[in-house]
Amino acid sequence: MPPPLFYLSQPDALLKIREAVISAWLCVTALLASSASQVTLTTPKASVHTSSPYLLGLGIGDITGPVVETNMMGYAYLPQTDSGLHMRQRSRAFIIADASNPSDRVVFINADIAFGDTGIRRSIISNLTELFPGVYSERNVAIVSTHQHAGVGGYPENLLPQITSLGYVPETAAAIVQGTVLAVRRAHGNLAPGSLALGNITINGGNRNRSPSAYLANPAEERAQYDGDQDTALTLLKFAYANGTARGFLSFFAVHGTSLYKNNTLISSDNKGMAAYLYESSVEPNAVPGRTTNVGDTSPNTLGAFCESPGKPWNGQACDLDHSTCGGTAQDCLGRGPGFRVSDFESNRIIATLQVDGARSLMNGNIAPVTGTVRSVHTYVNMSSYSFTLQNGTTVQTCPAALGFSFAGGTTDGPGAFDFVQGNNGSAPQNPFWELVKGAVTPPPNEDQVACQSPKPILLNTGYAHIPYEWSPSVVDVQMFRVGNLVILAIPGEMTTMAGRRIRNAIRARLIVDGIIGEGAYVVIAGPANTYAHYVTTPEEYGVQRYEGASTLFGPNTLDAYIDKYSTVPPSDPAPPDLTGFAISLRSGVAFDSPGSSHQFGDVLVDVPAQSTFTAGQTVSAQFVGANPRNNLRLEDTFLSVEQLVGSMWQAVRSDSHPSTIYRWLRTKRRNIVNISWRFLTDPFQLEPYRLVYLGDSKPFNGSISSFSGTSSSFKVS
Ligand SMILES: *[C@@H]1O[C@H](CO)[C@@H](O)[C@H](O)[C@H]1NC(C)=O
Ligand SMILES: *[C@@H]1O[C@H](CO)[C@@H](O)[C@H](O)[C@H]1NC(C)=O
Ligand SMILES: *[C@@H]1O[C@H](CO)[C@@H](O)[C@H](O)[C@H]1NC(C)=O
Ligand SMILES: *[C@@H]1O[C@H](CO)[C@@H](O)[C@H](O)[C@H]1NC(C)=O
Ligand SMILES: *[C@@H]1O[C@H](CO)[C@@H](O)[C@H](O)[C@H]1NC(C)=O
Ligand SMILES: *[C@@H]1O[C@H](CO)[C@@H](O)[C@H](O)[C@H]1NC(C)=O
Ligand SMILES: *[C@@H]1O[C@H](CO)[C@@H](O)[C@H](O)[C@H]1NC(C)=O
Ligand SMILES: *[C@@H]1O[C@H](CO)[C@@H](O)[C@H](O)[C@H]1NC(C)=O
Ligand SMILES: *[C@@H]1O[C@H](CO)[C@@H](O)[C@H](O)[C@H]1NC(C)=O
Repeated sequence: MPPPLFYLSQPDALLKIREAVISAWLCVTALLASSASQVTLTTPKASVHTSSPYLLGLGIGDITGPVVETNMMGYAYLPQTDSGLHMRQRSRAFIIADASNPSDRVVFINADIAFGDTGIRRSIISNLTELFPGVYSERNVAIVSTHQHAGVGGYPENLLPQITSLGYVPETAAAIVQGTVLAVRRAHGNLAPGSLALGNITINGGNRNRSPSAYLANPAEERAQYDGDQDTALTLLKFAYANGTARGFLSFFAVHGTSLYKNNTLISSDNKGMAAYLYESSVEPNAVPGRTTNVGDTSPNTLGAFCESPGKPWNGQACDLDHSTCGGTAQDCLGRGPGFRVSDFESNRIIATLQVDGARSLMNGNIAPVTGTVRSVHTYVNMSSYSFTLQNGTTVQTCPAALGFSFAGGTTDGPGAFDFVQGNNGSAPQNPFWELVKGAVTPPPNEDQVACQSPKPILLNTGYAHIPYEWSPSVVDVQMFRVGNLVILAIPGEMTTMAGRRIRNAIRARLIVDGIIGEGAYVVIAGPANTYAHYVTTPEEYGVQRYEGASTLFGPNTLDAYIDKYSTVPPSDPAPPDLTGFAISLRSGVAFDSPGSSHQFGDVLVDVPAQSTFTAGQTVSAQFVGANPRNNLRLEDTFLSVEQLVGSMWQAVRSDSHPSTIYRWLRTKRRNIVNISWRFLTDPFQLEPYRLVYLGDSKPFNGSISSFSGTSSSFKVS
């Protein structure tokens, strides 16, 4: 019983691409691999312009890992262990191929996760190369994140982001790989001729700089070229069928996925996933949105940062501007979203809606058609000691990775992020994983490293921490896509606003000077993509050493090194090693489930009141004897359903991914308890009865998992 709101419930009905068309392509691959960037992004001589110059494919897949007993990814906050589900995480795949030469193609994957990762990327690409030999590769597949902070953790293969999840969580990684590969297969399966168009619009009130004092360190003449310390433009690439009917879009808007705070323990999709959902549900089923860009210092908490310090004189006041502190400490300083007085989920909805409204007016407006070449470039770069020459002739270099002291202070979106560091002195909750590995970063950095990273005071010398495996990546992905005049820079980190502006301007100027694209060249940033190398600030902002500067891994010249790499695209360094084989995982599996004496799985513990009628805005809920949802992730499926009696049949009308439903799980001494709730704002249908259904999977002593369900009494809505 597929709930009707699952997108793509009837996929693959469209044009099939003929595999034969794809094969004539190998010569171009060889050309790209062996030449410099000037060649790689250029237009081939015979380029065909028709009303549907591209083959386009869009697909979506469920990537939600274990929704309970797993640390969440984004805030790196040890107590943030998930306890249920608000909305599922998805990957959305966008395939663009040149219709006159379909082997010229790119795949942009927008995954609703905190950041890309080398291990995830390796598995996705090896699955795709096995399924579609010669079609998809390291070069033309970009794994871009929405940078959300309310998803399941444990998937990165480097050690640092594993600390709060007590190591690697293979189930999370497998779910992301499997769902993403499915999204690409669906997109490949519905490739159809079509057209693209590109436009931008200003979104007011959708973001705010969370490190304005660092931004002010940039030269005044440079700042004077811009309206403010945030990029307020939303850029949209529209996908349409050959007959002109809209199919979906890819949009780029710089805002952090931190509308939900670190006290939220329900898996959700933050403002970009929510925006995608809102758009999809309004145009359903033909739109597949997704969006990401330079999110480094952009906060969705647009009211600004205030002190939450009950009882203190500074309670409710704005935080100190330079240090984001309240009474001298960071812990109480928290950014407020626009729905602050209502709820965090309300802030999330508002920031999402601003993006959706902007996107909708571009989709319905008159925007410029995109025509021309599809190209991609990918190379690995070892950033640990890259030496290059600045424009003024001075030779500089990057440094082995390190994080500064302000890294431990976090940001106003999540104060005290990575506060596992305090576990060092026994005053914070013990983290067994940190206890196991902390020795590897304890040796003080040597003189060269201190000088290279200066003025960053080094807290975690991760570039020298290889035990038990690499703490941070040294080898990162430099990747670019070109579609007509649009160039997408897939960046392996979080760019601050000014860093993003500098790299976009530099690459655009270079493309124009080299005669690759004319004055219409339009450059956007997508990231954090492919792997996670933390932040990228300008050298001036680096000097201020706020959170973003402290998290700029490879030293003060990190941004200029990226500008150099993205404009020259050098031959590839060796690929980074596969770390998953060494991964430590301290998280235990599910031993077994018991319904407790005198109960069966699925029994109703607290029912909906008999014969009740609910009105819009009220919450209906029921409690069931549950089992551990880690027994079966139910990917592309659901842990609950709101059903309605239609004639004599109960039909599912809401699934666990609908924002109006919540699945909450609790372990008690005797049993697991599941609470299913539904808060509807408008009566979705007619006055027919509804009921709540819980769908679970239990694991007995003998380990053979089986599914069961539980059903509440029926109720009415008015
Ligand atoms: C595909 O991905 C899965 C993880 O979902 C991994 O176990 C498997 O090895 C991958 N297959 C290939 C051919 O890489
Ligand atoms: C928006 O599009 C116009 C027209 O292409 C362009 O001139 C302008 O620079 C764009 N704005 C941004 C912020 O990219
Ligand atoms: C345009 O084409 C698509 C795909 O073939 C089809 O689903 C849609 O109904 C068409 N729209 C119109 C207005 O003809
Ligand atoms: C999380 O913290 C914020 C800010 O203090 C507060 O407004 C919100 O109600 C809290 N949410 C939950 C789920 O506790
Ligand atoms: C070149 O620029 C860098 C960074 O701004 C600066 O440190 C260096 O002194 C400059 N070199 C010259 C020769 O001006
Ligand atoms: C240990 O942690 C406490 C509380 O956070 C702090 O006051 C103290 O300075 C810390 N001691 C050391 C040696 O880091
Ligand atoms: C990156 O470069 C450093 C310095 O040259 C080298 O020691 C290290 O092994 C390289 N890392 C990888 C993964 O290739
Ligand atoms: C279930 O959780 C909701 C909040 O999501 C709460 O309002 C309700 O009281 C809970 N219901 C039961 C039966 O515990
Ligand atoms: C495992 O145990 C369950 C319930 O305890 C039982 O229904 C099932 O038949 C058992 N399966 C096997 C393979 O023994």
